[in-house]
Amino acid sequence: PKSHVGIIGMGVMGKSLALNMAEKGIPVAVYNRHVPGKEEKIASDFAAKNQQFPLLQGFDDLEVFVSALELPRKILLMIPAGEAIDLQIEQLLPLINEGDIIIDGGNSFFEDSNRRSDELSKKGIHFLPMGVSGGEEGARKGPSLMPSGNKAAYDLMSAYLEKIAAKDKKGMACVTYVGPQGAGHFIKMVHNSIEYGEMQAIAETVHLLRFGLKLSLPESAKVLRNWITGGLKSYFLEITADILEIKENNEFLLDMILDQAEQKGTGGWSIQTALKYNSPYSSLFEAVTARQLSANKKDRSDLSQIFHHRFRAFAEDKVLMLEHLKNAYALTRIINHETGFKLMQNVSDALEWNLNFSEIARIWTNGCIIRSSLMEDLAEFFQSNHSIFHHKALIGKIKEWKPDLAYIVGMGLQHDFALPVMSASLNYLLGRITDDSSANLIQAQRDYFGAHTYKRKDDPEGLPRHTDWTTLKYKQLNLK
Ligand code: 6PG
Repeated sequence: PKSHVGIIGMGVMGKSLALNMAEKGIPVAVYNRHVPGKEEKIASDFAAKNQQFPLLQGFDDLEVFVSALELPRKILLMIPAGEAIDLQIEQLLPLINEGDIIIDGGNSFFEDSNRRSDELSKKGIHFLPMGVSGGEEGARKGPSLMPSGNKAAYDLMSAYLEKIAAKDKKGMACVTYVGPQGAGHFIKMVHNSIEYGEMQAIAETVHLLRFGLKLSLPESAKVLRNWITGGLKSYFLEITADILEIKENNEFLLDMILDQAEQKGTGGWSIQTALKYNSPYSSLFEAVTARQLSANKKDRSDLSQIFHHRFRAFAEDKVLMLEHLKNAYALTRIINHETGFKLMQNVSDALEWNLNFSEIARIWTNGCIIRSSLMEDLAEFFQSNHSIFHHKALIGKIKEWKPDLAYIVGMGLQHDFALPVMSASLNYLLGRITDDSSANLIQAQRDYFGAHTYKRKDDPEGLPRHTDWTTLKYKQLNLK
């Protein structure tokens, strides 16, 4: 019998999705990329090793794999982003028919996906760029899926996607048609930006717990667990609490891990996109920068000697500090989500994608890496609102916690802790809520040195004006 879905790419994600499908009753064929002509048996071996799933078939030849698929063919690519996707599509084109569907389930840059959508639609091939979140475990047991592109093709795929996706609180699948073109990859990229911000904010918080408050790793884990039960539930806090406690050969594993963070690019793409669509995203820039700074361990070690850098512990009352820190982290988390959703709003408006933020938040309530109680709240909130800073219940919290964030950032910096995401978030908040920004001075400077013009507060038409600042200056001097 023919397979209903074909998966190309036998990395962890491809394998896990294949097993997930086979387990949920979907006949699935798998194939692994390899140099043509070179013998390789990864896909057939994988199927042979998983004989408990009779719906799983493995093929080591691309043509045979393609002909094993029911029409219209539904081929899911689970291969690295970039050129590999274009190459794979090129290899597939002569083997498939008009009306067949290619799904890209990797972390592709959404502008590449926009281009591929347009190119493939001209050829009559349906393209579905699809964000997939949840890592290996999510892919195996139920990921959050963010498909976009050709809507008719989505309708042909939706039953399969709903079967394998995670379920939200009400039992609905964590998958929705996101929007046209590469919208699914776009929101996955922003998902990762929120992920980067969240990870860095928690890393800063844990550093303060350990070296500012002098808590042991298990004590720090206990604090996080209290926060989880105290209203801040999230997957990230949960895995972090686990990480802080886990030992290997009687040593805390965390302290054995080299402090050099890596990244695969989605954070940087989001920064580029935020710049392109004029959407402030300083906290993400700081999260990416923090990873970059960490990468040069040797340089940091040398400089820490030269500058005698060491963290200084807080002398303040621990219980009070913990309360400040909890609120500071909680507010950072809200601001981090606000900036991410704002970027999505700006791009959605510019590209007329009409993204549904309530649905996006809903499919992020389970299966994905950034699932949290806040996301559940946002899924409801976005049903009738669009800006987190206008969320009535959150406004109260933001007002209440702002002094805590300012206090923690101030104290942390004075005690030699780098708090890039926490401080960027506070600066962003202050920048958003001030009626009196310092930008009038920027405009005056621009006009003074470069005649770039400015607008006046008392001119309702907002006409561009230029002042001859030097002449004014000498006139005033002469008057004196
Ligand atoms: C997910 C993750 C995943 C991402 C990794 C690695 O939602 O499952 O976002 O897709 O690739 O988190 O990202 P970095 O290597 O850039 O940290």
